[in-house]
Amino acid sequence: MANSPRPIAMIETTLTINGTRHEVNADPRTTLLDALRHHLGLHGTKKGCDHGQCGACTVMVDGERINSCLALACMHDGDEITTVEGLGQPGNLSPMQDAFVRHDGYQCGYCTPGQVVSATAMLGEAKRGWPSFVSDDLDTDVALTTQEISERMSGNLCRCSAYPGIVNAILDADGQQPEGEAGAEIVNLVLEGAQ
Ligand code: FES
Ligand code: FES
Repeated sequence: MANSPRPIAMIETTLTINGTRHEVNADPRTTLLDALRHHLGLHGTKKGCDHGQCGACTVMVDGERINSCLALACMHDGDEITTVEGLGQPGNLSPMQDAFVRHDGYQCGYCTPGQVVSATAMLGEAKRGWPSFVSDDLDTDVALTTQEISERMSGNLCRCSAYPGIVNAILDADGQQPEGEAGAEIVNLVLEGAQ
């Protein structure tokens, strides 16, 4: 006689999301992305590919950006999670959200929450001096050039190809002069990176 499948034991996980503590009682295989969207009703974080290729699901865990589709919720018991809802809200946008609006850093908007969260965390990484693949010198401060931004944001794909606006928004949020009509150069950099 075939054995009947054993029931999966639920697991209790405590997540502090945008400053509010939540208890999630879920199958231990539940991803952080599904816990946010399906268990807690936080739909700002988007599911694109669901396997770490598009960046639509980017959130911050204790200040560092991760793909929430690649993390189990139970791995983050006790952690502080920041989603796009925690950065700002209509009428009180964060500087990065505001810059995306002013520079048309989106078209359909599906990738935008991930782009904004990723860009916000990326500015912090650059300020801490983390080098990227295109950094010339590992010992000097990071200057966020167009090339640096394109490389550091290469994990966030935009099917609408709003990259020129995204890069200009990030330059603006970093206190730099946006590059105006630099769109063609930026798209070429992104396409080179994808090859
Ligand atoms: S949904 Fe997570 S990387 Fe695409
Ligand atoms: S704005 Fe449509 S996918 Fe990026």
